[in-house]
Amino acid sequence: MKVLLINGSPRHSCTYTALAEMQKVFEEAGCEAQILDIGDKDIPGCKGCLACKELGHCVMDDIVNETAPLLAEADGVVIGSPVYVSGPNGTLISYLDRLFYSTHFDKRMKVGTAVVSARRNGTTATFEMLNQFFFSSGMPAVAIGNWNAVHGYTPEDVLADEEGLAGLRVVAENMVFLMKSIAKGKEDFGMPAPPVRVKTNYIR
Ligand SMILES: Cc1cc2nc3c(=O)[nH]c(=O)nc-3n(C[C@H](O)[C@H](O)[C@H](O)COP(=O)(O)O)c2cc1C
Repeated sequence: MKVLLINGSPRHSCTYTALAEMQKVFEEAGCEAQILDIGDKDIPGCKGCLACKELGHCVMDDIVNETAPLLAEADGVVIGSPVYVSGPNGTLISYLDRLFYSTHFDKRMKVGTAVVSARRNGTTATFEMLNQFFFSSGMPAVAIGNWNAVHGYTPEDVLADEEGLAGLRVVAENMVFLMKSIAKGKEDFGMPAPPVRVKTNYIR
């Protein structure tokens, strides 16, 4: 089992600390778990050129194309973001928009979860927005009762957030269970048929 943990923050700090807590659980369960820092890179947003429809990758050849194979190989994906003005940080969204839109490999049944770090507010809005990347790709998303959030301004604050970290460990354990169950389900029943796309833009 492979798990890709994406750190959207430009800092190696609170979000990273939360992801590292989950990484330990994945590794203890025998998974390969890699934390990928993308937040300190210059990542332009999607230009909407739709060249990826032909190419199967983004026309801007940068970290998005470079790291797309990591997503392709992953059985589980954790997206970590600091809260910036009650939403995910901008660099992360530029990265994810292009990564999820430009790649055409099947993402269905990869298990996903989002993790957010805030000093105080905006965690639920950020969490909801990040989950759309999973829902739009047919990926089951995992959560626990307190919306996968930690609080802090420094790694020490996050390490003191016992409730937040305990929740993230449970999320990681649940992801391991689901990844194993899906692998067994694929063997026993096979993947469901890909959806037939009906695209009308609401125009009849
Ligand atoms: C540009 C910017 C905007 C922020 N906006 C918020 C916010 O709306 N709510 C909040 O609680 N914290 C906010 N913060 C604080 C960070 O979300 C918080 O410190 C987070 O834990 C930082 O994670 P990191 O160390 O992984 O970057 C903001 C920080 C920055 C730099």
